[in-house]
Amino acid sequence: QIKEKMIKNGYEFKSETDTETVAALLDFLYDGDEISTISKAVEEIRGSYALGIVFKNKPNTIYSIRKDSPLIVGLGDDENFIASDIPAILKHTKKYYLMEENEIAIIKRSGVLVVDLKGNTIKKEVFEATWDIEAAEKGGYPHFMIKEINEEPRALIDTLNPIIKNDLPFLSENGLTDEKLCGFSKVYIVGCGTAMHAGLIGKYAIEKLARVSVDVCIASEFRYSDPILTENDLVMIISQSGETADSIAAMRLAKEKGAFTLGVVNVIGSTIAREADATVFTRAGVEIAVASTKAYTVQSAVMYALAIRFAMAAGKISGLEAKNLTSSLLKMPEIVKDAIEYFDGVCKDEADKNLTCNDLFFIGRGLDYYLCMEGSLKLKEISYIHSEAYAAGELKHGTISLVTDGVPVIAVATQKPLFEKMLGNIKEVKARGARVLLVARKDSEISSDVYDSAIYVPDIDDLFMPLVCGSFIQLLAYYTSVKRGCDVDKPRNLAKSVTVE
Ligand code: M6R
Repeated sequence: QIKEKMIKNGYEFKSETDTETVAALLDFLYDGDEISTISKAVEEIRGSYALGIVFKNKPNTIYSIRKDSPLIVGLGDDENFIASDIPAILKHTKKYYLMEENEIAIIKRSGVLVVDLKGNTIKKEVFEATWDIEAAEKGGYPHFMIKEINEEPRALIDTLNPIIKNDLPFLSENGLTDEKLCGFSKVYIVGCGTAMHAGLIGKYAIEKLARVSVDVCIASEFRYSDPILTENDLVMIISQSGETADSIAAMRLAKEKGAFTLGVVNVIGSTIAREADATVFTRAGVEIAVASTKAYTVQSAVMYALAIRFAMAAGKISGLEAKNLTSSLLKMPEIVKDAIEYFDGVCKDEADKNLTCNDLFFIGRGLDYYLCMEGSLKLKEISYIHSEAYAAGELKHGTISLVTDGVPVIAVATQKPLFEKMLGNIKEVKARGARVLLVARKDSEISSDVYDSAIYVPDIDDLFMPLVCGSFIQLLAYYTSVKRGCDVDKPRNLAKSVTVE
């Protein structure tokens, strides 16, 4: 509509971009005062944007404003920056302003002034990034993704330490007192992609330990589903970036409907971190690779901590049981470290076997199925191999017809009570010619003629298995992607933060 108006007013367009339309609108509205021009323009523009504007007669000044899209202003020494995220400015400065909506930054080499739409000065808080440039670079690894997988043990320690006190998860300082937790009769976990998959682990752990019903929702569905929410509901939004457009919208909707919102977020100062009623930070550090890895692991760890506290607060487990579970959780960084070392070698070999396949299937039950969903997403995302995750028990309801001679099937069978059932499913796919990669405990009783190769998982409690095996599915996707010559860190068509719908 704006473009049509501009054309009627004699403007000629050289591109199809919205950006050019905004530039034309600013030119059209220009009244000699840059702030009033920008204010009038943003009144007309709909949708999300982060703009950097230079007026012809003020060539040494950048004006910047945002709506729904993230925008930070980096504060350097005799130089200043605009960017959508912190890693972009780290080479130059660690200090930055977080821009709110309806604020205009006036950026000159010598300094930055932030004003409202009427031109009144706004005093902004200066934030300082705790990440250093080393962390934002590859540190000797060929790709960010493999570097970030190897950072999982550290990220787990950094995430768990602040939320464990006296051998128990401690969340009151995050706004989740035991009294508050006991008051929730229903939990929704909302997120996108990998974050949503971490939510599935949360569902399993909370339902198993605290016996409270949990729904896991894809944020883009939740926001348009007119959800039935009350003030007794907890809506947990999981997001690495804290800037995912659908997750933000889902959180705002939940707030509007009176539910209590909890952000489980990695980026301090992000929209979800600022707007949720309570926040628990994952402390993975900066995650650069588009494929989320360490964020998934620490999001899962927070899910376990939350489930343990929830269960204890609700009187569903004793203090001693809670302490034992917490102690197991605290052992995870060390176990994950050893697991990464082992999985790294075996995944390199396994990747060779998938190179030429067109389709690949993951099958599992219970927590293993949830891990399979994440495994399938990761493989598709960075290696471009079509893959699907199936609940193994569903195969005979349709999908087993896809399994023919030589089709790779990754069968995850780590859950003890479900092992017998999984064995039946593995035999079914093997009988149809599948090439089976078995992922199981070493002592599983399974004859070697029903699988082609095996990867063994550490001998830990079933409950924590996805947290440890996350690195397996990540490394398998990683080496497959490397060997197929794909752009591992920046897969085609994808962005790290999905800040638009
Ligand atoms: O920043 P968020 O955690 O909200 O991002 C959610 C998804 O976009 C993200 O997890 C995506 O699925 C990953 N690229 C998957 O590896």
